[in-house]
Amino acid sequence: MLVSAKDMLNKAREGKYAVGQFNINNLEWTKAILLTAEENKSPVILGVSEGAGKYMGGYKTIVGMVNGMLEELNITVPVALHLDHGSYEGALKCIEAGFSSVMFDGSHYPIEENIAKTTELVKITSDKGLSLEAEVGSIGGEEDGVVGAGEIADANECQKIADLGVTMLAAGIGNIHGQYPENWKGLAFDALEKINAATGTTPLVLHGGTGIPEEMIKKAISLGVAKINVNTECQLAFAAATRKYIEEGKDLQGKGFDPRKVLAPGFEAIKATVKEKMELFGSVGQA
Ligand code: 13P
Repeated sequence: MLVSAKDMLNKAREGKYAVGQFNINNLEWTKAILLTAEENKSPVILGVSEGAGKYMGGYKTIVGMVNGMLEELNITVPVALHLDHGSYEGALKCIEAGFSSVMFDGSHYPIEENIAKTTELVKITSDKGLSLEAEVGSIGGEEDGVVGAGEIADANECQKIADLGVTMLAAGIGNIHGQYPENWKGLAFDALEKINAATGTTPLVLHGGTGIPEEMIKKAISLGVAKINVNTECQLAFAAATRKYIEEGKDLQGKGFDPRKVLAPGFEAIKATVKEKMELFGSVGQA
């Protein structure tokens, strides 16, 4: 059964590790992540962007697929199904469809409007026992055509949003989605320290997990980060493994064209990436 991300993230914050949110794109992605979580006894969050939701045939399709896998693959670790960077309307749709967690990304609104909409969603999600992620200070880079400037969140604004009772808070600290450019300045730890001090025990969320050096990940966890989002890294691993299969001409040998064979190396590559991240984040054995 899907669970809210609340308990797993509060435990992670207490225990100074982070739970990975891995974005899903299809059945192979979902199965790879769930099996890896189970094998490593790690809690896990499956992230779904609005674009990926549409791609996979709608939120109800995803809920059906994930619930089916939890049962038939005997997944016993805590799993949350979470809307990533949702709009207000998208969050409502996911709640109705059976997601156990949603993110409302109001970071592009003036803070008053972000507060107003987040307040409404705190009420709706807490009544239903679901978790809610809010965002202050947009994350840089491009996701589903939305380009954020990579702001550093203001600690006072973070406090205001955390005080509304959100489950977890994403705050921009110089992190961006996708691969980091050569001249990236790194995470703004001074800002993270202030945000952590201002937001009490609220688990903090680090977006743009792809390509952040290990020491920075560990330091971020020591400063209150309890959820780390990874998307691009699984995509790169999947694409590289699939390219290798095709370039080696494996699809032309025997029944190598069977989609189950074509997608197998990419599936294994996602599993390896997810395992590596779970080890780095310290969530292995925490379920
Ligand atoms: P990356 O694609 O950079 O790993 O970021 C993922 C993310 O933050 C999803 O919200």
